[in-house]
Amino acid sequence: MAAMAVREVPARSLVGGSRVGYGEDAHRLAAGRALWLGGHSIPEAPRGAAAHSDGDALLHALSDAVLSAFALGDIGVHFPPGQPETADMDSRLILKRCLELVAERAPGARLVNAAAVVTLDAPKLGPHRDAIVASCAEFLGLAPGRFGLTFKTSEGLAPDHVQARATVLFEVWR
Ligand code: C5P
Ligand code: MG
Repeated sequence: MAAMAVREVPARSLVGGSRVGYGEDAHRLAAGRALWLGGHSIPEAPRGAAAHSDGDALLHALSDAVLSAFALGDIGVHFPPGQPETADMDSRLILKRCLELVAERAPGARLVNAAAVVTLDAPKLGPHRDAIVASCAEFLGLAPGRFGLTFKTSEGLAPDHVQARATVLFEVWR
């Protein structure tokens, strides 16, 4: 007689399923400001984001995407604009805090991948892609191959803006 099959109990299970998040951000471009994208500066950019913080639209979009996956509001709730303590703030700290908020809400949450689009007419961002991907992947705790980064121009429709859109996918494990 054949031995009875032993049913394997998985060591971990995907209790909370998957969570997708989405975020956007836009800033007006102003002379005399550094342009930051994904925690990486673009030294040849003649203008940067006019903002209370460092104006890193990509990190702001990613941060809102992270919060939205768990319905935790948006970065304006957690970092009210105009506060002295957030003036010229390094947006990496914003993303770090958003990831901490997710970890508090859903301790088994694991980021699977992220994808983002940055819309900027000039300068060309292609030469910075690897550095921006490496920078964002590190903050997100992802392998670089799990962060897809797309650049677009606005075709002259929004020459005075930098815009970013981002999606994230989490799995919730126990
Ligand atoms: O927006 P568009 O389709 O014209 O972009 C064409 C190419 O230019 C894309 O390959 C994109 O990666 C690149 N690009 C870039 N830097 C930008 C905008 C677009 O390298 N600021
Ligand atoms: Mg912003």
